[in-house]
Amino acid sequence: MPFKHYHADGTLCYIEIRSVMIMKDILLEYNPKLIIELGTYLGGFVRYILDWRGTITNDEMFRPKIYTWDFVNMLSDDNRKIFREKGVIIVTEDLFDNSILLKYLLSLPVKKFLFVDNGCKEHELHLYSACLNPGDLMGIHDVGTEVILDRVKGPLAQFDEHPVSVKKLRHTKNDGGCYTRIYERKNWIGKSKPPEVI
Ligand SMILES: C[S@@+](CC[C@H](N)C(=O)[O-])C[C@H]1O[C@@H](n2cnc3c(N)ncnc32)[C@H](O)[C@@H]1O
Repeated sequence: MPFKHYHADGTLCYIEIRSVMIMKDILLEYNPKLIIELGTYLGGFVRYILDWRGTITNDEMFRPKIYTWDFVNMLSDDNRKIFREKGVIIVTEDLFDNSILLKYLLSLPVKKFLFVDNGCKEHELHLYSACLNPGDLMGIHDVGTEVILDRVKGPLAQFDEHPVSVKKLRHTKNDGGCYTRIYERKNWIGKSKPPEVI
């Protein structure tokens, strides 16, 4: 399976290219103010986000802020420098540690995209997804391989699958495959209530 490919600058990206391109369309339309990636690895996906972010506006103030999490920093010197120059916040922390910073960021009242692409995605979905606000988007990678949807029914009950995800990310057998799904946090209605953040 073509799970990985190289960004034009040579950085290995551990996400299949078709999923990346569909996420681009969704993100450019949604225009989040905050993008949070769980699982930086070599920084491949962040390199793409920086490309797209550059097309939104030249004004740094109006560009989405990017955070990326990993428990080790494996970035090349070049990528570390580029991330620093472009204001990407690199957080080196074990996501098993019930991160207060992450919960705080996820609960902020701004449009967000959370991308779950770290080592134990089902666990992080249980820990963190409920902190997102209604309307926020969440991408999950490795669906069907590492993330078995039946096992994350609980956290996903508060989400609807994004229409573009249903249409494009599920039907790609002839295009090299997609292992990503995008979800949108539902409104807090009925008995559901805002999550406790800390
Ligand atoms: C598949 S890679 C991410 C690929 C990356 N998003 C890209 O664009 O190429 C998964 C990453 O999750 C990190 N990871 C695994 N378990 C973690 C944990 N408990 N906390 C933080 N990061 C973790 C690994 O170190 C690894 O770099």
